[in-house]
Amino acid sequence: MTDTSITRRGVIAATAAAAAISATGTAAFAADAQTVFITGSNRGIGLEFVKQYAGKGWNVIATTRSPDKADELKKVAAAHKNVVIEQLDVANNASVDALAAKYKGKPIDLLINNAGITGDFMNPKPQTFGTLDHNDVDNFMHTNALGPLKVTEAFYENVKLGKGKKIVAVTSLAGSFGAKFGGGIPGGYWYKISKAALNAAMVNVSMDAAKDGIIVTLLSPGTVRVEKIGNAKMPGLIEPVESIGGMIKVIDGLQPSDAGQIIRYNGERQPY
Ligand SMILES: NC(=O)c1ccc[n+]([C@@H]2O[C@H](COP(=O)([O-])OP(=O)(O)OC[C@H]3O[C@@H](n4cnc5c(N)ncnc54)[C@H](OP(=O)(O)O)[C@@H]3O)[C@@H](O)[C@H]2O)c1
Repeated sequence: MTDTSITRRGVIAATAAAAAISATGTAAFAADAQTVFITGSNRGIGLEFVKQYAGKGWNVIATTRSPDKADELKKVAAAHKNVVIEQLDVANNASVDALAAKYKGKPIDLLINNAGITGDFMNPKPQTFGTLDHNDVDNFMHTNALGPLKVTEAFYENVKLGKGKKIVAVTSLAGSFGAKFGGGIPGGYWYKISKAALNAAMVNVSMDAAKDGIIVTLLSPGTVRVEKIGNAKMPGLIEPVESIGGMIKVIDGLQPSDAGQIIRYNGERQPY
């Protein structure tokens, strides 16, 4: 597979890092490497996915809603010619359709629906019963549940063209009834509801995708020390390298019998 045309179109010209990439004309994808498409790639779990797949020699389509501000991601792209940055707002259908049109006919081996919002840890009131801000719910649903479904639908033909034939979505313990919604800690209404909806959507897609030999699963990353957590102390907190390394191992080993399941970063099954 030669994805040079993808990378040529994906170069973001207005940045120093991109200038370094475009100095060679294109950020050429390796013809014999697999291709992964990642949402929410500029920080946190998405950025670590980019780093690890880039390090493994995969072609990486790293999407972010604000490429201009994605300084860390641009550094990774500058250091790896197999990383291309694309603009994508998963909560905006027009944005998803525009990028899908650009990639029409290009194989994608693995689609990772990672982008998501949790809400402001320092201000739990909008997601607390009694003070719920009902104006927030659309944003949560569109970003965490409907967006990943739209992205999956829009890039489904690309995954069908790929050899890997895998689609994953990053969910949370907070979305599982059987895990007492994140250990039974109250609050977080919009986050929990939207992740439960994401689970329902992806289980449904997994049934539709089986006929095409595509495995669709949900991944649960654990509690991961992303940038916004900083040095805060939280029970069970793990570093991104462990969580994402674990999820990549899970992805590598996915079997048809895993379709529609929720699998934790350490390989354990998570109840719905
Ligand atoms: N960290 C954890 O402990 C943990 C635990 C369970 C599940 N998760 C899940 O893991 C995923 C990643 O979380 P994280 O911890 O890495 O969070 P994070 O550090 O807050 O990063 C979230 C990412 O999603 C992007 N994003 C938000 N809205 C978007 C939109 N409309 N379109 C495109 N991108 C959008 C953000 O981009 P901007 O920079 O533009 O905002 C950012 O890249 C989420 O789905 C989250 O629910 C995380």
